[in-house]
Amino acid sequence: MSKYRIAWLPGDGIGVEVMDATRVVLDALELDAEYPFGDIGWDCWCKEGDALPQRTIDLLGKVDAAMFGAITSKPVKAAEAELVPSLRGTGLVYRSPIVRMRQLFDLYVCLRPCKGYAGNPLNYKEGIDLVVFRENTEDLYSGVEFAPVPAELAATLQALSKPFAPFAKLPGDAYAVSCKINTKKGSERIVRAAFEFAKKHGRKKVTIVHKANVVRATDGLFLEEAKKVAKDFPEIAWDDANVDAIGMWLLKNPFNYDVLVAPNLYGDVISDLCAQMVGGLGFGCSGNIGEKLAVFEPTHGSAPKHAGKQKANPIATILTAKMMLDWLGEKDKAQRLEAATAAVIAEGKVRTYDMGGSSTTMEMGRAIAEKLPVAAGR
Ligand SMILES: NC(=O)c1ccc[n+]([C@@H]2O[C@H](COP(=O)([O-])OP(=O)(O)OC[C@H]3O[C@@H](n4cnc5c(N)ncnc54)[C@H](O)[C@@H]3O)[C@@H](O)[C@H]2O)c1
Repeated sequence: MSKYRIAWLPGDGIGVEVMDATRVVLDALELDAEYPFGDIGWDCWCKEGDALPQRTIDLLGKVDAAMFGAITSKPVKAAEAELVPSLRGTGLVYRSPIVRMRQLFDLYVCLRPCKGYAGNPLNYKEGIDLVVFRENTEDLYSGVEFAPVPAELAATLQALSKPFAPFAKLPGDAYAVSCKINTKKGSERIVRAAFEFAKKHGRKKVTIVHKANVVRATDGLFLEEAKKVAKDFPEIAWDDANVDAIGMWLLKNPFNYDVLVAPNLYGDVISDLCAQMVGGLGFGCSGNIGEKLAVFEPTHGSAPKHAGKQKANPIATILTAKMMLDWLGEKDKAQRLEAATAAVIAEGKVRTYDMGGSSTTMEMGRAIAEKLPVAAGR
């Protein structure tokens, strides 16, 4: 029996190709693992009406970790139109399987390191090394949404909230409501995870990102909980910033920041911004981490226009595998994988289209796999 069982969920679009290239690297590392395959994504939705089938949920309950590629997601009506005819009009509603996976398994930490590797022609500035902690289970992604808005909800909002008055006059199908739900527990634990990471890794500062001056109830709660947590870490400097301002400050002075922590939506946005500063989505790696399970995935989506063309950069997924190795405690393998990736980037001979080259997805995977013995000093 292998030491690890790692669910292998390529998904669709470029997810399939970047995962194939990553597997070449993991195999070359000789990780003692088996990789049971799991169905997820657009095909499952179209054919079965469920983008995250129960058999995949069952699989996730029986593994040490999961590697996930990418999936295509579409708005509700567009998704319904692509169901097989027998499932259309049956009341099935599309929900992103990755959001469901995060909620079902309480994968509350979304960890997104954004490190610029020397020699990457796409680096915004050399030496950027940011880490984003994004809350992963609540906020505007809680899935509590109404379109059209039911009359009972409109009546309740009218009775309870003065600012709702201009909307109360509208017919239910003229607007939509998505609920931003943030709990004290959810806010506390993501901020604590960010501070604990900063302490463990000798990071100098944690920045709390919010919009508490306008979104006073939910972001106000997030900020208050964050301030309480900060008191438990007197050795770590911290500050806070509005999400709009941080977009500007990160670009202007990226070296003033270190670890950033934010509610779900803002965390999603700033992690793409940070990924772009270190080379774009082809370099953005991430882990969805809970107490019992962790699902590792590149930050990018299925990039349909590149799907099946062997164009996508697999480095994001390969660095995602490095995060998984760290999480499993395979520190030596993680370091070798990162060193091999850094060496290929620095050498500049193998570059995918986004880096200005014409190498294929698999050529990049093989180049990194071939550098592993060098990275180990063999
Ligand atoms: N976790 C996920 O699986 C996830 C995340 C984001 C978006 N999505 C879905 O993916 C689909 C496409 O979304 P999108 O186009 O907004 O975002 P995307 O991340 O798929 O791609 C945006 C663009 O970034 C570039 N890019 C992305 N990954 C790259 C890579 N590995 N190498 C080189 N270039 C890369 C491409 O130019 C691409 O067109 C949508 O259906 C969306 O809902 C899924």
